[in-house]
Amino acid sequence: MDMTRVAVIGAGVVGLSTAVCISESIPQCSIDVISDKFTPDTTSDVAAGILIPHAYPDTPIHLQKQWFQETFDRLFAITNSSEAIDAGIHLISGWQIYRTVPHQERPFWADTVLGFRNMTESELKKFPQHVFGQAFTTVKCEALSYLPWLEKRIRGRGGQVHIRKVEDLWELHGSYDVVVNCSGLGSRELVGDLQLFPVRGQVLKVQAPWVKHFIRDGDGQAYIYPGAFNVTLGGTRQKDDWNLSPDPQNSRDILAKCRALEPSLHGAWDIKEKVGLRPSRPGVRLQKEILIRDGHRLPVVHNYGHGSGGFSVHWGTALQAGQLVKELITTLKISTSRAKL
Ligand SMILES: Cc1cc2nc3c(=O)[nH]c(=O)nc-3n(C[C@H](O)[C@H](O)[C@H](O)COP(=O)(O)OP(=O)(O)OC[C@H]3O[C@@H](n4cnc5c(N)ncnc54)[C@H](O)[C@@H]3O)c2cc1C
Ligand SMILES: *[C@@H]1O[C@H](CO)[C@@H](O)[C@H](O)[C@H]1NC(C)=O
Ligand SMILES: *[C@@H]1O[C@H](CO)[C@@H](O)[C@H](O)[C@H]1NC(C)=O
Ligand SMILES: *[C@@H]1O[C@H](CO)[C@@H](O)[C@H](O)[C@H]1NC(C)=O
Ligand SMILES: *[C@@H]1O[C@H](CO)[C@@H](O)[C@H](O)[C@H]1NC(C)=O
Repeated sequence: MDMTRVAVIGAGVVGLSTAVCISESIPQCSIDVISDKFTPDTTSDVAAGILIPHAYPDTPIHLQKQWFQETFDRLFAITNSSEAIDAGIHLISGWQIYRTVPHQERPFWADTVLGFRNMTESELKKFPQHVFGQAFTTVKCEALSYLPWLEKRIRGRGGQVHIRKVEDLWELHGSYDVVVNCSGLGSRELVGDLQLFPVRGQVLKVQAPWVKHFIRDGDGQAYIYPGAFNVTLGGTRQKDDWNLSPDPQNSRDILAKCRALEPSLHGAWDIKEKVGLRPSRPGVRLQKEILIRDGHRLPVVHNYGHGSGGFSVHWGTALQAGQLVKELITTLKISTSRAKL
C-alpha cells in the first residue's frame, strides 16, 4: 500500500498537536515525529499551559481569534470527557487585574472564554494596589500529561517517534514526501529565520494545594496559575536572553511579586525553578513552501514562532498546518495511488 510519508519536526505542543491533526484528517498517510528533545525537556514543559492568548502584531486578529476559538472548543470538549485526567486538561477560574484601567477593556478573546466580566468592588478588595480587573473561566493544560497523551495518540494511529536532531531539512529528502517544520526556536539556527528571537521565561513550580484561583497581573509580569500537580508562579520576560539557567534573583523577585498578590503563598513548599525560551516572532509562521535544490523538490509546511501563547492557539494552528499539508499533497499529486518508486 502506498502511503504519503510525512515527517513532523519538533515534539513540543505545536509539533505533537500538528502530527495528531494530520493523522486524523489525512487518511493514507504515515507520520514520523522527529525531534532532538521530548517531554519533559521542551519549552512547552516549562509553560503553565493556560489558555489566555498573547497578541501577535503581524498576524491578523480575526485569525488569532479563530485559532483561539478552535483550541478552546477542542480542549473544553476534552475537559468534559472521561479523557480529561489522562490528557491533563481542566477548567480554571480566576482574575486578571490591572493597576490602571487598560485602553482595551475587552480583549478579542473575551467571548471565547467562559463568563467574562468586570470584577466587582468586593472582589477588588483583595487587591488594594489594583483598580480594575476581569474575571473569567478558561482551560489549563498540564504539559507533563498532555504531551505524553498526544504522543500516545500519534502512536495509536501507527505514527512513529524518533529522537534525532535535524541539521538540514534536505536530510529528509527521499525518506519523506512532506516535511512539517514545528521546531520552535530551533528554526532560527536551522534556517536562519532572524525574525525569531527568544523571550526568556523563568517560573517557579511550587506546592500550594489550597490555591485554586488564578491571578494574573494584566501586564503579564506576575502570575499565579494553579494546576493539577503544582502551582506555577511567574514570571520573567527577557527578550534576546538565551540563558537557560535559573537566576536566584529572578526567583526572589517572582516569590515577592506573587506573595504580594496571594499572601498565603508564604506557606508554599517544594519550590522548583524552571526556565524556558519562548519562540517569539512578530507573527506565527504558517506557510507552505516547495524548496528546490539540484532539481529536487522538497515540500515543507512551517508552523513555528508561537511565542508566549503556544498553548492558547496550538490546535487552531495545527488545523491550518494540516490543511496546508493536504494542499501540498494535492498540488504535487503525491497521491496515495502513485506508482511505487
Ligand atoms: C515560562 C513560560 C510560561 C509559558 N506559559 C504559557 C501559558 O501559560 N500559555 C501559553 O499559551 N503559552 C505559554 N508559554 C509559551 C509556550 O510555552 C510556547 O509558545 C510553546 O511551548 C511553543 O511550542 P513549540 O512546540 O513551538 O516549541 P517547543 O516546545 O520549544 O518545541 C520545539 C521542539 O522542536 C525540537 N527541535 C528544535 N530544533 C530541532 C532540530 N533542529 N531537530 C530536531 N528537533 C528540533 C525541540 O527539541 C522541541 O521538541 C510559556 C512559555 C514560557 C517559557
Ligand atoms: C458535555 O458532555 C455532555 C454529555 O456527554 C454533552 O451532552 C455536552 O454536549 C458536552 N458539552 C461540551 C461543551 O462538550
Ligand atoms: C467594565 O469596566 C469598564 C471600565 O470601567 C467600563 O468601561 C465597561 O463599561 C464595563 N463593562 C461592563 C459590562 O460593565
Ligand atoms: C525550518 O524552516 C527553516 C526556514 O525555511 C529552514 O531553514 C529549516 O531548515 C527548517 N528546519 C527544519 C528542522 O526543518
Ligand atoms: C509538580 O508536581 C508533581 C507531583 O507532585 C511532580 O511529579 C512534578 O515533578 C512537579 N513538577 C515540577 C516542575 O516541579
